[in-house]
Amino acid sequence: MIKIVQGDITTLAVDAIVNAANQVMLGGGGVDGAIHRAAGPELYEACLKVPEVRPGVRCPTGEARITPGFRLPAKFVIHTVGPVYRDGQHGEPEKLAACYRNSLALATENGCTSIAFPCISTGIYGYPKEAAAQIAVREVENFLTQRFREAEVAEVESGRARSPSAPPLEVIFCCFSSHGATIYEKLLS
Ligand code: APR
Repeated sequence: MIKIVQGDITTLAVDAIVNAANQVMLGGGGVDGAIHRAAGPELYEACLKVPEVRPGVRCPTGEARITPGFRLPAKFVIHTVGPVYRDGQHGEPEKLAACYRNSLALATENGCTSIAFPCISTGIYGYPKEAAAQIAVREVENFLTQRFREAEVAEVESGRARSPSAPPLEVIFCCFSSHGATIYEKLLS
């Protein structure tokens, strides 16, 4: 199920909220700053423990890492790093799509049944909101469809009621502005 919410993602009592982080993964401005402020200093400590894959990089662009949510109402924070938008011809769409896919996969691997996304890369990283929203909606719909099919196959193969391993996943697009929410409403209508 997909929902649109307009507001501050740090207030959402969901299993996981997604953070639009940077590759260093130690906080920043925008939603990254808001999440770190609301989660408290333990989040910074938890991020510091995430191993660097190369000097100064804990989470490469397009990948995702999970930490507890600490003082947030959300149980987990899934940190993902969107692409810095140049002109759309340098792999930005593929990297942004990977952020959504990897965040959804990490959420389900950790038993989450609800996850909220901000509009990744559309702030400081400059991704055009409409183009980013199209990628977000496409990737989430594909993921949910795939998950439903896998549950159906499991049901047929096992001859049992839907396997508990695939409980429904609620996905929320949390838009900070009404403009952002309108873009998603149009895409999902
Ligand atoms: N709740 C929900 N959405 C928010 C919030 C919030 N509290 N604060 C900001 N946003 C929205 C912005 O309006 C924008 O639509 O999140 C979207 C992403 O914007 P940024 O936070 O600027 O993230 P991004 O464009 O991905 O740039 C990432 O910015 O904060 C730094 O450390 C971060 O270097 C990284 C870069």
